[in-house]
Amino acid sequence: MSKGSLLILGKGGQLSNALCALLGDQARVIGPDEANFLDENFIGTLDSLIGTHSFKAVINTAAYTNVDLSETTGETDAFRINATAVAELAGWCRERKLPLVHFSSDYVFNGSGSNRWNERDQPEPLNSYGRSKLLGEVLASDHSGHYLIFRTSWLYDATGKNFFTTMRRLLGSKEELNVVADQMGAPTYVPHLAKAVMECVNKALAAPEFPDGTYHLCSGGETSWHGFASAIWAHERAHNPDLACKTLSPIPTTSYPLPAPRPLNSRLDCSRARDVFGVVMPTWEDGLKDCFAAADAN
Ligand SMILES: NC(=O)c1ccc[n+]([C@@H]2O[C@H](COP(=O)([O-])OP(=O)(O)OC[C@H]3O[C@@H](n4cnc5c(N)ncnc54)[C@H](OP(=O)(O)O)[C@@H]3O)[C@@H](O)[C@H]2O)c1
Repeated sequence: MSKGSLLILGKGGQLSNALCALLGDQARVIGPDEANFLDENFIGTLDSLIGTHSFKAVINTAAYTNVDLSETTGETDAFRINATAVAELAGWCRERKLPLVHFSSDYVFNGSGSNRWNERDQPEPLNSYGRSKLLGEVLASDHSGHYLIFRTSWLYDATGKNFFTTMRRLLGSKEELNVVADQMGAPTYVPHLAKAVMECVNKALAAPEFPDGTYHLCSGGETSWHGFASAIWAHERAHNPDLACKTLSPIPTTSYPLPAPRPLNSRLDCSRARDVFGVVMPTWEDGLKDCFAAADAN
């Protein structure tokens, strides 16, 4: 690992895995087994792990991402991992003069209307996870020296526990499926996000003035969960005429009650990342194509 490498937190998660695949030995990655955000002495542990090693930046992909558990029994842990520990991490980064790269979510918005949300729009989370992520944003920007916060949406890859892998399993085992059709957003293929993030980070590090701020970054285009499922279904049917699933019906969110309310409009306007970094992500359809190629190669 060279002096100019990156420190990544969140080992084993979807985004961390994709960043590590991209960065190879240019990254030192730490997981909860080494430094746990729930520990009171989390920063002391980080200090002893890192010692005097110098990095270019810290990328925090660690998060409490179980939205429904946060709503029921997990709120305390969600706020610790997504918010108060982030404040401590941000302060640690400031002391070491390291820019902090942190991630947030479309779930900071209330989902009203049909316009794409931009970074100047007022957040108003509908659920506990969204509130913890919003507080994490505020604390990350307040406590760090330099920072980038990327809000993204609907992450998936070929192997993690996510909508893509769940839907493939269900399509292979259930004759009929109902999928929510009134939540709109952009499914984001994580390796595409990792590449876009690194382009932004490298440009930020090379800029004469660090472009601190919050940026929306997700796939291009938009669809519903039903639209995304239909595209997965079409691919699966084309490759397997005996596929179990014969009917994929659109349903409203109200017919699929979950503990945590979801925003109906998760469309993110990514023009700020385009204007500042010149970065535009591929469409969600191209992401799905690449994800199937990766899944088929496994
Ligand atoms: N997934 C989405 O659809 C989505 C959408 C919008 C924004 N985001 C944001 O994007 C970022 C990356 O998401 P992701 O999908 O890569 O998440 P992920 O796959 O759930 O990974 C999160 C990582 O954080 C680790 N972690 C959890 N609790 C921890 C703790 N107490 N201490 C240290 N590490 C801990 C997890 O380890 P264990 O697995 O061992 O617990 C896991 O490796 C997060 O900030 C998330 O909020 C995600």
